[in-house]
Amino acid sequence: MSIVSQCVLLLTDDTDVRNAAQQSLAHANLDLQVLSDMTSALDQLHSGWTGVIIADHGIADFNISDFLTAIEKIDPELPVILVDGKSDLGETTRPDPTQHDAAFDVIGPICAPTQFNKITQRALRHRRLVLENRMLRGALAHYTNTAPAIIGTSPAMEKLRASLTKAAASHAHVLIHGESGSGKEVIARNLHVMSRRPGPFVVVDCGGMPEHLIDAELFGDRPFETAGTNPHPIGKLDLVDTGTLFLDEIESLPLALQVKLLRVLQERSRGRARPDPGQPHQADLRIIAATKIDLRKAATQGAFREDLYYRLNVIELSIPPLRERPDDIPLLFDHFTRDAAKRLGRTVDALSLAEITQIKAHDWPGNIRALRNAAERRVLGEDRLIAPMMAATDQGEPSSLSLPQQVEGFEKKLIIEALGKHGGNVTATVTALGVPRKTFYDKLTKYGIIPAEFRRQRKA
Ligand SMILES: Nc1ncnc2c1ncn2[C@@H]1O[C@H](COP(=O)(O)OP(=O)(O)OP(=O)(O)O)[C@@H](O)[C@H]1O
Ligand SMILES: [Mg+2]
Repeated sequence: MSIVSQCVLLLTDDTDVRNAAQQSLAHANLDLQVLSDMTSALDQLHSGWTGVIIADHGIADFNISDFLTAIEKIDPELPVILVDGKSDLGETTRPDPTQHDAAFDVIGPICAPTQFNKITQRALRHRRLVLENRMLRGALAHYTNTAPAIIGTSPAMEKLRASLTKAAASHAHVLIHGESGSGKEVIARNLHVMSRRPGPFVVVDCGGMPEHLIDAELFGDRPFETAGTNPHPIGKLDLVDTGTLFLDEIESLPLALQVKLLRVLQERSRGRARPDPGQPHQADLRIIAATKIDLRKAATQGAFREDLYYRLNVIELSIPPLRERPDDIPLLFDHFTRDAAKRLGRTVDALSLAEITQIKAHDWPGNIRALRNAAERRVLGEDRLIAPMMAATDQGEPSSLSLPQQVEGFEKKLIIEALGKHGGNVTATVTALGVPRKTFYDKLTKYGIIPAEFRRQRKA
């Protein structure tokens, strides 16, 4: 995404100015093009032009104001350095650079070559940053105003929706807590859209990346003076101005970067050199941080900076795991099934009652992501609705569930399988499982399993 080749367009009819420019820029290895009329110079330019224009305003029949106006129509951020080639020009003919956005600097007739070179290099860097910023913003633009629908009508989801509406009315920082795959990013994107923030939604994943890369991605890896030679001259904190920065897995942010981020949040201004040096950047910054762990506990134990925790946790949103809202499961499953069927160009039967019971009774340690995968597997014709429970989670990751929770999940699955096999016949199921009838009924109540549904299914 960086701008590779840059050039200098010199507009002059004065041999002295041309020689001076050629000498000054000779060592800079810059592609210098010299033209003597305004029309052919304007013909070269366009909004993606990567270079800098040096215009000698002493050129014959040349109206510098018209030239700058024409350039601003092409792109107001094209930098023009004005060269005062003729030392005998009166003050009245000097252009007033403050009247034009494009006028980058004015160089007098006795400008030293080193100064000339320095001003040109500065203008080139400025142009590079302008274009890189535009490219990055363009790449991020499609994230700005779209968010996937939040599906779920359980009381827990309704409560979360109400909290979201409240949070959207403010621009305070938000901490989202939820298990893996529970929908933290979906909630964050919706909050960004609902908050009507004009800037982009920018994601930085604080887990799974070495510290120096997160540092570069967040804060940019060079001060302005050397920017442009590096892939991340601009940090995402710069890009996110008026938007939302989503910091995923905030618990993994290295301690040194926690300090750096805290400083940004405290000052709301960063003391780094900017494209307009001397102007500290007042970022309109909203952070939504997401975590899978109990961050308060981590903060009290010293594993996460307590001051940063309190800065981020102005509003706290907690996403309930799927197993705590089983009534949302069929709705979500149906949504993902339709989506996958459309995408894959397939048709698929509606879920049977036994299948509904089965997916409702499952623990879904991988939460909504795992449910989506199961729906997709079914659309692809896989018989097994639920991936083997013996794998620690649906994602093949170590389970975040306790041992008793995993044992319960396994027990539930065995009961459902046995009932399915015996067509809902309780006596046959009890015998097959080798448990007392009373114990079996207690477990049916505990897991919300209804044998009649398996019998109806068999008849159907
Ligand atoms: N309420 C919801 N309605 C519909 N789809 C959802 C909902 N919540 C999550 N999803 C879907 O589930 C999947 C996982 O969601 P998401 O990536 O937001 O989870 P996460 O909590 O950020 O996961 P991780 O902890 O792995 O980062 C995505 O495909 C997402 O579209
Ligand atoms: Mg996520």
